[in-house]
Amino acid sequence: MTKITEIAPDIFRISTFFEAFNIQFCQFLVRGDEPLLFHTGMRGIFPVVRDAVASLMDPAKLRWLAFSHFEADECGALNEWMSIAPNAVPVCSLVGKMVSVDDFVGNDRSRGMTDGEVLETGSHRFRFIATPHVPHCWEAGFMFEETNGVLFCSDLFHQNGDTEPLTTSDVVESARDTIVEYQKGPLANYMPYTKSTDGELKRLAELKPKVLAAMHGSAFEGDGAQALNDYALMRKMLDSEN
Ligand SMILES: [Fe+2]
Ligand SMILES: [Fe+2]
Repeated sequence: MTKITEIAPDIFRISTFFEAFNIQFCQFLVRGDEPLLFHTGMRGIFPVVRDAVASLMDPAKLRWLAFSHFEADECGALNEWMSIAPNAVPVCSLVGKMVSVDDFVGNDRSRGMTDGEVLETGSHRFRFIATPHVPHCWEAGFMFEETNGVLFCSDLFHQNGDTEPLTTSDVVESARDTIVEYQKGPLANYMPYTKSTDGELKRLAELKPKVLAAMHGSAFEGDGAQALNDYALMRKMLDSEN
């Protein structure tokens, strides 16, 4: 079942819960002059996500299809979206474009962003932060919607379960529980902890986001800098325990 929640003005969280895996997959629609979808979702959920977007706007008018890294839940349905939205352009890191996305979509129209670059869409400004291997993958990065202070934070703050769409309560403890749980099974080593992880998380904290829009689990509304610093500390402590 897909749930839609407006987490900031004209920014909608579209969430589908997979009971068998106890996980939500969220996409974020930013409505405006040039509508942007952050995460396409997998091909398998394209019909339900498309219908959710269609309840908010005409999907054919989507202009930007942005995501963090090259993985099925991030961008698996890129080609399906591009087939119904002829002017839609993928947006990812320059590495993502060069290494995977141009080949995947069969043309070189993708917008490959470099660290600190801004995408202006008229009603919104998105700053791209390149963060190799955070949360994971060489091409990873984050988009910060500066108009409302929303950080689209991909797999960071992943909380398992059918969580509430938006919360002001702590999400770090639950994110810790998810990493610990995954470490015991086939999904171990989900997000690497490297010598640059702490610094990258602190760079994100400096953006002082007001909303942390997680792909899996509740979006957090509140002191985003504090939450990111707490998350960084949690990751450091987990790393030192292993
Ligand atoms: Fe991922
Ligand atoms: Fe993910």
